[in-house]
Amino acid sequence: MIKVLLTGSSGQLGHSLIKSKPANICLITPNRKELDLSNPKECFDKTLEIKPDWILNCAAYTAVDLAESNHELCFRINKDAPKYFAKALNIVGGNLIQISTDYVFNGTQNYPYQTDQIKNPINIYGKSKAEGEDEIQKEMKNPKNYYILRTSWLMGQKGGNFSSNIIELLSKKDKIDVVSDQFGSPTTTISLANVLWELISKDKFIKQYNLNKYPIYHWTDDGITSWYDLALEIYSISSKLGLIEKNKIIRPIKSSNYKTNARRPLFSVLDCNSTQKLLNIKRIPWQKSIHQMLLEKLKEKNLNI
Ligand SMILES: NC(=O)c1ccc[n+]([C@@H]2O[C@H](COP(=O)([O-])OP(=O)(O)OC[C@H]3O[C@@H](n4cnc5c(N)ncnc54)[C@H](OP(=O)(O)O)[C@@H]3O)[C@@H](O)[C@H]2O)c1
Repeated sequence: MIKVLLTGSSGQLGHSLIKSKPANICLITPNRKELDLSNPKECFDKTLEIKPDWILNCAAYTAVDLAESNHELCFRINKDAPKYFAKALNIVGGNLIQISTDYVFNGTQNYPYQTDQIKNPINIYGKSKAEGEDEIQKEMKNPKNYYILRTSWLMGQKGGNFSSNIIELLSKKDKIDVVSDQFGSPTTTISLANVLWELISKDKFIKQYNLNKYPIYHWTDDGITSWYDLALEIYSISSKLGLIEKNKIIRPIKSSNYKTNARRPLFSVLDCNSTQKLLNIKRIPWQKSIHQMLLEKLKEKNLNI
């Protein structure tokens, strides 16, 4: 059995990872009370106590707008926690997968970001995640023992995300406005969870053939869209599935007319080629992935999960 310490098990990605766990994985899922990532000593001590083969660090301070006024807590969770996991893993000898974000980039280019491009975050959340990556790269003594996997526009059937917000808004209002000048690639927690389990299952092979040349990888579903077009697709699928009523109106607006505390990158598409090559897998179109996720949402709603 492979012993995996999963942080953030109550989050949307954690939910999909638990649901799709392979049989040979022994999953340890402490909640925030049992392992508080804002306490570096707890991160260090818990790792020494559990001696995991892997830490899958999915927990994060993810409230992007609140982070602007909550720097200290955000940096403790997103920067210091991975640093102390890395320090402890050097002692017990396990591996680390850190989930990171497209928000490490500033969004000023108009072609996909490569894994080795210089980071230049434009909000506090992005800065804290970028520095979390740096700490891991500084601390982990064996560069083969960690992967930093960046993803974008993550949406699962459970928890709060863009898709659940759109469904909730459209169930209360007849008309909503959605930003149409920010572009990215949606990713479902279902497809990301599959990639994470693939990575763990193929790691022996990757190490044996020295395939992990550069420890940063990207994973998103296939295709590029705007939040506006994504909202239209979510509306179309969820109204067909009976999750919301028909005859609602979604209007496009500019980012300049939608003020938020944190700035967002205008373009944050990630180049996923190295991950596809490493794991020998293909991405599925984001529309198909969203459809699958909304079907799961309906199934879980009916089963009251
Ligand atoms: N959401 C996106 O669009 C997006 C995009 C790119 C990258 N990512 C990255 O993907 C990963 C997974 O994100 P997600 O959307 O699944 O997050 P999420 O649904 O917001 O869940 C966050 C998780 O972190 C846990 N957590 C927060 N603070 C904690 C603390 N002090 N101690 C212990 N646990 C704590 C939460 O626990 P509680 O339930 O106790 O709060 C929850 O389980 C994160 O690393 C995030 O940065 C997300």
